[in-house]
Formats: sequence, C-alpha cells, structure tokens
Amino acid sequence: MLHYYDPSIQSYEPSKSGLNPDFDYGTPASVSETLVSISVDGRAITVPEGTSVLRASALAGINIPKLCASDNLEAFGSCRLCAVEIEGRRGYPASCTTPVAEGMEVTTQTGKLAKMRRNIMELYISDHPLDCLTCPANGNCELQDVAGAVGLREVRYGFEGENHLDAEIDDSNPYFSFDPSKCIVCSRCVRACEEVQGTFALTIEGRGFDSKVAASQNDPFMDSECVSCGACVQACPTSTLMEKSVIDAGQPEHSVVTTCAYCGVGCSFKAEMKGDQLIRMVPYKGGEANHGHSCVKGRFAFGYATHDDRIKEPMIRDSINDPWKVVSWDEALAFSAKKLKGIQAKYGRESIGGITSSRCTNEETYLVQKLVRAAFGNNNTDTCARVCHSPTGYGLKTTLGESAGTQTFDSVMKADTIMVIGANPTDAHPVFGSLMRKRLRQGAKLIVIDPRRIDVLNTPHGGEGIHLPLRPGTNVAIVNALAHVIVTEGLEDQNFINSRCDTGAYNIWRTFIAEERNSPEAMEEVTGVSASKVREAARVYAGAGNGAIYYGLGVTEHSQGSTMVMGIANLALATGNIGKEGGGVNPLRGQNNVQGSCDMGSFPHELPGYQHVNDPKVRERFQSVWGVPIDDEPGLRIPNMFDAAIAGTFKAMYVQGEDIAQSDPNTQHVEAALKSLDCLIVQDIFLNETAKYAHVLLPGSTFLEKNGTFTNAERRINRVRKVMEPIAGMEDWQVTMALSNALGYPMNYNHPSEIMDEIASLTPTFTGVDYDKLEQLGSIQWPCNDDNPQGTPTMHEVEFPIGKGRFAVTEYLATEERASRRFPLLLTTGRILSQYNVGAQTRRTNNSDWHEEDVLELHPSDAELRGVSDGDWLGISSRVGHTVLRAKLSTRMLPGVVYTTFHHPGSGANVVTTDNSDWATNCPEYKVTAVQVEKVSQPSDWQRDFVDFDKRQQALLKPAMGQQESRHANTLK
Ligand code: SF4
Ligand code: SF4
Ligand code: SF4
Ligand code: FES
Repeated sequence: MLHYYDPSIQSYEPSKSGLNPDFDYGTPASVSETLVSISVDGRAITVPEGTSVLRASALAGINIPKLCASDNLEAFGSCRLCAVEIEGRRGYPASCTTPVAEGMEVTTQTGKLAKMRRNIMELYISDHPLDCLTCPANGNCELQDVAGAVGLREVRYGFEGENHLDAEIDDSNPYFSFDPSKCIVCSRCVRACEEVQGTFALTIEGRGFDSKVAASQNDPFMDSECVSCGACVQACPTSTLMEKSVIDAGQPEHSVVTTCAYCGVGCSFKAEMKGDQLIRMVPYKGGEANHGHSCVKGRFAFGYATHDDRIKEPMIRDSINDPWKVVSWDEALAFSAKKLKGIQAKYGRESIGGITSSRCTNEETYLVQKLVRAAFGNNNTDTCARVCHSPTGYGLKTTLGESAGTQTFDSVMKADTIMVIGANPTDAHPVFGSLMRKRLRQGAKLIVIDPRRIDVLNTPHGGEGIHLPLRPGTNVAIVNALAHVIVTEGLEDQNFINSRCDTGAYNIWRTFIAEERNSPEAMEEVTGVSASKVREAARVYAGAGNGAIYYGLGVTEHSQGSTMVMGIANLALATGNIGKEGGGVNPLRGQNNVQGSCDMGSFPHELPGYQHVNDPKVRERFQSVWGVPIDDEPGLRIPNMFDAAIAGTFKAMYVQGEDIAQSDPNTQHVEAALKSLDCLIVQDIFLNETAKYAHVLLPGSTFLEKNGTFTNAERRINRVRKVMEPIAGMEDWQVTMALSNALGYPMNYNHPSEIMDEIASLTPTFTGVDYDKLEQLGSIQWPCNDDNPQGTPTMHEVEFPIGKGRFAVTEYLATEERASRRFPLLLTTGRILSQYNVGAQTRRTNNSDWHEEDVLELHPSDAELRGVSDGDWLGISSRVGHTVLRAKLSTRMLPGVVYTTFHHPGSGANVVTTDNSDWATNCPEYKVTAVQVEKVSQPSDWQRDFVDFDKRQQALLKPAMGQQESRHANTLK
C-alpha cells in the first residue's frame, strides 16, 4: 500500500515532504490529520481527508488528464477532462472537485472515459489555431500534451464556424503577451490572479461561447490593475499568456534553481537557460519562502545582468578628474593594495575601512568584513543595514536576545490579527504581501499603523482594516498608547509574562506604561490618531488568538527607531505573541541579503553571529582561525566614516555592491566625504553614483554569475547557484580574496562552500550549516545548532537566548525634526513595486515603464493651498538641501505629509533628507524631514550640478568602455 501522510508538513521541499516540486499534483494539499484510504485503478493509497481524487491518484502515480486544475489553485471543475468512474456513484464526476471518501474505488481509464475526453479535446481544438510548429509554447504546452494523452486524432467540427482565431493580441505589457486566439477559457489565469497574487485584475467576461479573459474593464494589460507578477503567465496551459523572452528566443533547454537577488522575501527561482542565455525566471514551487510565486522584479527584471553598461574590466585612475584606464586584474589589485598600504603608513591603521553589501552573498560579505578586520587591521566595517534595519538588531537583541525576526513567512497563515507598522508589503515584499492578503481574505483582522493608506488596506475581499494614520515621527507615542490600553484594560497574557519574562523588567515597564501620559487620549494630540481608534486596535490585537506584527523601515528609520523596535517587542511579550506560529515580531528586511550581511559581522562592533569585538573569548576564537590579532575596539560606522573623511583622518574606502552616494542621507555631505578620500575602491556591476568618485573600479558579478547563499527576512539560508560565468572572470568573493592576498593577508578558498564551512565553525547560530545540508534540506532557517540541526522555523518557543524576555522602557521623545512655519510639511520616503532600492538594476530593465521618475505625492488640500496641479514641477526644500520633482496628487497621503521614492539618482531625494539618526544605531531618520514645497520652473542647483558631474564622469568612462567592449566582443548576448 502507498502511504502519503504527514499532515504537519505543508512544505514543497522534496526532502521534507517527499513531493516533487516539478510535478503538478492537480489540487492543493489538504491539511487534515484524518486519513482516508481509497483505491485508484486497483492501487491503494492513503491520504489526508479533503484530498481530491485527482491529487490522490497523482500521489498513487496515476495521472488523470486535466486542463483547468493546478496544485496551486483551488479546484474549479470546468474542463471535465479529469472525469472518472467511482464505484457506486452515478455519472462521471470530475476528479479535481471530488474529495476522497473511505473505501472509494476509482477507475480512471475506461473506453467511455477515453471517448469523453477525446470529445472534449476536439471541442477545444476546434476553436484553437493549429499552428503548433510555430507556436512559442511548442515543446512545453499542456494543451498539446493532453491532446496527445487522450489520443486526439481528428477534429470533426472543422474551423469554418464561429471562432476566436482572429482575436487581437495585447502586447502592451513589456514582458508578456496575451494572444486570446489561443485561449481555452480554463480560467487558470483568473484564479491565479485572485488566489495566488490577490490582485483580482482578471475576469472572464461574457457567457458560453462569448466568454473571454479580460484585464480590468477590458483594458490593455498595461492600463489595467495588473501588477505584472506573472502568476497568470505561469498558470496558462497554452501560449495565450506567454513571456516575450520565450517568444523571441524559444523554449529553454536547462535550468538551475537559485534565489532572487532583489528583496528580503528571498524567492526561489528556476533560471531557465538556453546555453548561457537566460530565457526566463520561473518561480520555484520548492522554494519555501515563495511556494512558486514571484513579483515583477524577480520574474522579469533580469535584463540588467547583460546590459551594455556592465563594467567588465578592472579600471583605475589617480584622480576623479582623470579618464578611466582599463587594466588587468593584477594591476588593479596591486594599485589598490599600494594605495591602501601607503595611506595606512601615512595616516595610521584606522584611516581606511570597508563597506559590505547586502546584495552580495553571505560568503562575500563575510570575506569583506574579514578583510577589514584581518588585512586592514581595524574594525572599520559597516553595511547598508546601518541605514535600514540596524535598530532591529539593537531593539530585538535587547528585548528578545536575538537580532532577527521570529517567524516563517508561512506563519502569517495562522495569524488571527495582522498588525503592519511602517511597511508596505504589497510594494516592497510583494510575494509576502500576496500571502498576507490571502490570510486577510480568509478573515484575519488587519491593523495598519502608517501615515499613508497603503494598498494592503484595500485588499479585495479582505474586510475593513483599522488604519491608524499617525504623524511621521510619532511611532513610539502610538506603540506606548497601544501598550497602555493592554495593560490598563487587563488584556495582558499574565501566564506568558510570569513564565517567560523577566519580572523585574516587566514591573518597571508596567508602571511606566500605565502612566496616564502614555494613554491614547494623552497621545492623541501628538500622533493625530483618535484615542478611540487606538483603543480599538489594542483590543483587537490583544484579543486575537494569534497576533502577528510585521514592520518595516517606517519603524526603524527614525531618531527613535531602536526604541520603537523595543516597543513592538513589548507589545508581543505583553500579549504572549512570541514563540508560536501565527504570532511574532517580524521585520520585513529590504534588500535580498540584509539579514545575512548583519549575520556575517558587517557591523563595526560585532563579529559574525553578533558576537561583540570586545569579548576576549570571541576574539580568541576568530584569532585562532584567522591567525591575526583582532582589534578590541568597535570601528567606525558609515556616518562616522563620512565625518572622519571630511575631517581628513579617514582616507580610503573599499565599497562592495553598495551605492552610498545615492542611498545615504544628506547627499551633499556624502559627496563631500567621498571627494575627500585619497582612494575609493568600488566593486560593482555598473558605474553607480559612488563609483563616479572612485579611483579603482573592480567589476562585480550579478547573482546569476556566482555561487553562495542569501539569508532572507525569515532567517532562511538559501542557495544562490551560478547559472552563467562571471562576465569579468571573477565572482565577488574571488575579488575580495585577491585584494586580501595583494595586501599580504592570505586567503585561499576554492569555493564559497569552504567560506561557509569557516562561517559555521565560528558562528554558533550556523553550527552544522554546510552546502551538502543545504542541498539536502533545500534551505535552513538559523539558528541551526546541535539542538536544532535542521534549523529553527519559529524562534523563542521555549526560552529566549537571554533566558527571559526583557521588557524595555520606551519613553517617547519627539524628534528634533518638526514642521515649522518655514518647513510646514513632513517628507517621508519609501519604495514602489517596480523599482528596487537605488534602481541601479531595475532602471536598466523595462520595469521603468511603470516608474520612469520619482514624484512627490501630496494631499490635494496641500496642493490646493499652493496652487499645485498634478504634474507640476515642485521645489522641495529642507534645512539641508533643495531638489525638484513632479507633483502627484494623492489621497493616500495625510494632509501635511508628502512622500517620495529614491529610485532615480537625479531626483535628489536624499539631498533633502537630514543626518538626524537613531540614538542607538545612527540609522538615518529618512522618514521625517520638515520641508516646504512650491511651484518652480527649473531644476535645483544640485540637480544641475548632478547632470554636469554625471556627463563629465560618463565622458571619462567612455573610452574605457569602448576598450572593454572590443575585448568582450561576442562574450555577451
Ligand atoms: S500578471 Fe499577475 S497581476 Fe497581472 S493579471 Fe497576471 S496574475 Fe494578475
Ligand atoms: S489565458 Fe490561458 S489560463 Fe487564462 S483562460 Fe486562457 S488558456 Fe486559460
Ligand atoms: S523581489 Fe522579492 S518578492 Fe519579488 S521575486 Fe524577488 S524575492 Fe520575491
Ligand atoms: S481538471 Fe478537473 S475539471 Fe478540469
């Protein structure tokens, strides 16, 4: 007898569930723990109750033909191809919509069934163009396969009657086309858009023969609500919805499973290739972060990897006013080493530093901080997490004992109340946003704390959420008010507090939070949110069986970012929402490997695994492996490096995969710092804004060109696998290694797996992690150790790394950055779906069709006051700078609050942001800048200078690019 049973496992990982992620089992798995045994064509199979006959048959190894069913969609029962005979039942039930019942005897192949299936196929094909040989789906078409499987030999109805063969193709989307002449109206696309993506952009319009798929109100895809996630394209069993890359290049012939290099969701993909040409990215069903779904970035925006702007040869120059000179790797590395050593000899050991990348792999990040600590001999290493989630590290470590989110993404499916604070998951973490929306459609309650009305509040069929539209900068006031209600209305989980929390810390916190000054009524004036709404939200969160908190940069990027993170942890501890599925505190990490870059010891005060440099035992362990002494003093943070550069004491920087000139606040200050350096070494795939100030340009490699691992926001270590050779001949870890060797500190790794072995040997939370284990398990969520050899999906189930959970007093202190008569509006910045971070990658793809420039969103009332209309040029001034953007009127904004993104360098969003920062970590206060806006007719001075400088730098690069092109002729495209 065949058994398929492990109801606790909702995983597609082959090793964990026994399922094949490349196979479609027809309908989703049932979660029931009750087992049912049936026989299919005489084969016995035991499955969970609620499993469809179609799925049970597939699990028994019997494949019933199907067209409208797929195992990521609820059964629909429209095509009837999956009809079977069931002993004792009349007719021919559809096996996809028929659940198993104890003792059921199913027959899947009889003469009658075969005839019926052929007839159905005949009808389909009579309205389908027979151009298989020239069809882009040829060789990978479910319709073709099913026609073959049912033995279709003739189409008696002919093609003369009414048909849809002349239906017009919609080519409006840059990445996929819609050819309705090939549509069999199976509705899989519509259901994928609803059930998987949650956008509801598609419908079946009309009835019977006139039924057809329509985007929004029968609009072209580009004008519809479609967000180009591609789920419908993947679901389509014909070539109706088809990637343009496949139409152009033909079907791929091999694939490699790897991890998306965009956001912190860390979706797994099959990179489908033809030779070394990437044809398409197909979300991998075996990926535990995404279960086969993706967004427009991961699925489609990969063209930057072969863009003409790629730096493919090392380049050097003495001054930023000189043209770039193409040199060999050896020459570039020797030049760099000589400069770095010379500077240290003249200005001291502390005069140089390095910045690790949250886009590079764990192994690469580890090597950069090792290079700084072991070869530079100081702790001047930092990373872009400084400007995003450093308060998460500080706040969670202080309260919960570990600097990371507590859950898996799937945990949200068990949440009864979801609280989203300062995050916009449907734009910034889209695949998780879709999962969250799925749970909201199932009835979970939603609380959003954000100045903007973010899209998750408009989840179709998701119910009314509670929106607390607070004033920027008042997060701590509101989290305290929520906690005040929980404490004073007796909504705490006393059992959890007594058994799991430090009672001394709790009592101090409780006394503080219960003070009247923290009540919603007292805070109403500060936050601008009505006290009754805050009370309602607190009751909903505390009253939930499982309450989950998800937060983003709207929490951390404040002068009280760390305080707010601790305030969030306080809420979860007070309500017992830690250590269980469906609850938790979940930072939504921005970049693909920002969790990993923090884990790998990028911060100046911590060695890998958040082990403090001033702990002699920790240093001893590292010293024994690295063979050199490690400085016991924390080094410089990024802002300190800038200040020291301007002061003349910090003279050289090695920056891997990070564009600090665009991403860091107060651009003019950053530019001044970069100009002060005697040697700036930039390792990147393009001449980014930082590289324009560089003296050495080392070509970087994209995620497609390297092996390694990324760690996503749920602590999941995922493999990155090389799908093509690095364009410049070296993967990023090899470049760092070569630089270290040139500096005289030997590094000798043959493969990133050896670097991971070293990481695992020195980092207690990575014990036992190696590439073999990752291959076997698919992915591992750290902490991985002797107690949890397969990793830890939910943290703090039994105890905290610090023993007991520690409440922290979170006094609200207003930021210095306040609206005034001179600067009456508050500017807050963020991201949008189609662009990624500084945009260096996505701007070099068709994703710019959705967002070709950054705009300033403002409420119509603020616009009216200033006589501003949509599309007007607006000058935006803060106390540190001035820039100009186009206006976009939006009721998503609160009056008094304006918003922009920073995806385009010429926008100068960070020219305006100040260098105010979090008290504990120096994370910049991007989310609150007091500004004034007024109509203008010309760009700002900074923008004019930016254009001039860019032109000059492009001209200085041009001859070198020409030279590299001739060397690389025929290696690309
Ligand atoms: S691409 Fe995504 S959002 Fe657009 S129609 Fe298809 S499933 Fe819906
Ligand atoms: S477009 Fe494709 S998935 Fe959608 S109904 Fe037509 S054939 Fe089915
Ligand atoms: S950008 Fe994020 S959500 Fe989109 S495919 Fe990549 S990892 Fe997934
Ligand atoms: S697959 Fe069952 S009705 Fe279509």
